[in-house]
Amino acid sequence: MSAIPSGAFPTTRRKVPGFNRTGTWEIDLNDPKKAEGSFAQVGSSPRRTHYTGRKLARVRSVADLRARTHKLMPRFVLEYLEGGAGQEATLARERQAFAQWRAMPFTLADETCRDVSANILGRTAPLPLAIAPTGLNGIFKRNADIALAQAAADAGIPFIQSTMSNSRMENVAAVPGLRHWWQLYVFGGDEIWQELVDRAERAGCEALVLTSNAQIFGQREWDERNRTAGGFPNLSALVDAACHPRWLATTFSRGFPVFQNVIDFVPKDQRSFFDSANWIRDRMRKSLSWEDFAKIRERWRKPLFLKGVLNLEDVTRAIDHGVDGVILGGHGGRQADWAISPLDLLPRAKEIAKDRIALYISGGVRRGSDILKARALGADAVLSGRAMLYGLCAHGAAGVSRAIELLRSEMVNELGQYGVPNLEALSPDLFVHEDRLPIRTSV
Ligand SMILES: Cc1cc2nc3c(=O)[nH]c(=O)nc-3n(C[C@H](O)[C@H](O)[C@H](O)COP(=O)(O)O)c2cc1C
Repeated sequence: MSAIPSGAFPTTRRKVPGFNRTGTWEIDLNDPKKAEGSFAQVGSSPRRTHYTGRKLARVRSVADLRARTHKLMPRFVLEYLEGGAGQEATLARERQAFAQWRAMPFTLADETCRDVSANILGRTAPLPLAIAPTGLNGIFKRNADIALAQAAADAGIPFIQSTMSNSRMENVAAVPGLRHWWQLYVFGGDEIWQELVDRAERAGCEALVLTSNAQIFGQREWDERNRTAGGFPNLSALVDAACHPRWLATTFSRGFPVFQNVIDFVPKDQRSFFDSANWIRDRMRKSLSWEDFAKIRERWRKPLFLKGVLNLEDVTRAIDHGVDGVILGGHGGRQADWAISPLDLLPRAKEIAKDRIALYISGGVRRGSDILKARALGADAVLSGRAMLYGLCAHGAAGVSRAIELLRSEMVNELGQYGVPNLEALSPDLFVHEDRLPIRTSV
C-alpha cells in the first residue's frame, strides 16, 4: 500500500511528457512518487514511497516535502501551486533543461573543503539562493509570508515578498535579521506603484524586483477547471476541500486570505477575496513599457531587478536602462506557454551581462545539483518558488528551513562528487549538454 492515500491527489488524472531523452515514459504530475526517475526498480520492486509523515528529520529530499504537500492540500490549492499555463510546455521545459546537463567530475581532487557560500548583493549568503516571490501564500498556511521570511532570515538568504502576498510588508520587515526584497507588480495608476515603492523604501527593503511578464494573466486551464466563472472553487473542488480537515482547520478556518498590501487601493464594495483578485487582474498595466521601467528606476535608488526576462535583447535593454540585476525566468511555467527555460538562455545571457549586473535564474530548481548547474552556466544565484512552498505546505516555517538545508547539503555533497572546492571553481567546462554526447576529441 502506498504511504500516500490515492484520494489525496487531484481526481482529474493528468499526464505530461517526461524529461528522459527518449520520451518513452511519462511523469504523472499528480503523483509525486513518479516525479523522479525509477530506473533502480523492476516494475514496482523494491517498493519505494516518499516520506510523507510529520518527522522533519526523516525528510530526505524536496520530493518528500512535495509528497506531503499533495497529501495535505486540497485539489484546488494544489492546482494553484503546481499548475502551469496552456499545455504546460514551459513548466516541463524548466525541469527538462536541468536534466540535459551532465557533469564530468574530476577525480583525485582534494575534496576536504567544500564551500557553497556565495555573494548576494555584496553580502555573503550560505548558498546562492533567494526565496522567490509567490502571491496568495495565505491559501497554503496562515501567516505563510511570515513563515517564509523567518526561514529565509534563519538561513541568511533573501525573501522576496510579492505584491500579492497576504501579510503586511511592514510585519514581514519586522522579522529579525531578514534580507527583505519587495516584488512589484504594476497595476492601476502611477500612484499605486509609487506608494508601494515608497513603502518598500520606508520598510527597509534591500532590493526591488519588478516582475514584467505577468501583465496578462497566463491561461492556467487546469486551475480554471476547479473554479466557477467568478473564480470561486466549484462544487467538486469544495467537496474535495471539505475532505482536508487539517488544511481547513489550520489555514481556512478564518476564510480566504486578504491581499493586505494592496487591498486599500481596491474599491470598498470589491474587497472580497475573489472580487479583489479580479479587480487587480483587470487593472494590470498591459502597456507596461521601458519608459515605466525608467520611472521606477528613477524613484528607487537601491538595487533594482527585472524579473521574467527570456529574450537576449531584453537583457541588453535592461542593462541600458540601469538595472542592477536580471532574473531570467518564465514565472514557473505559469505565463507564456512553449517558452524556453531560463537555463537554456543563461550561457548567452552571461556573455552579454558579463559581470556588469547580477544574473539570476528562476524556474525548476528542486535539487542542489540544479543550483550548481546554474552557477556553472553563469548565474550568480537562483530563485526558488515551489520547492520552498512544498516545505511551507508540509511543515510550515520549519519545512521551508528544511528545504533550504536540503538544497544546501545536496550542493555541498555534489560539489565534492564533482571534485570542485567552491562555486568560483565551477565552470561551464565541468558540464556537457546531452546533445553534445558522445564527447569527441578535437584532434
Ligand atoms: C504559487 C505561485 C505563485 C507565484 N506568484 C508570483 C508572484 O506573485 N510574483 C512573481 O513575480 N512571481 C510569482 N511566481 C513565480 C515565482 O516567483 C518563480 O519565478 C517560480 O515559482 C519559479 O519556478 P519554481 O516554482 O519551479 O521554482 C509564482 C509562482 C508560484 C508557483
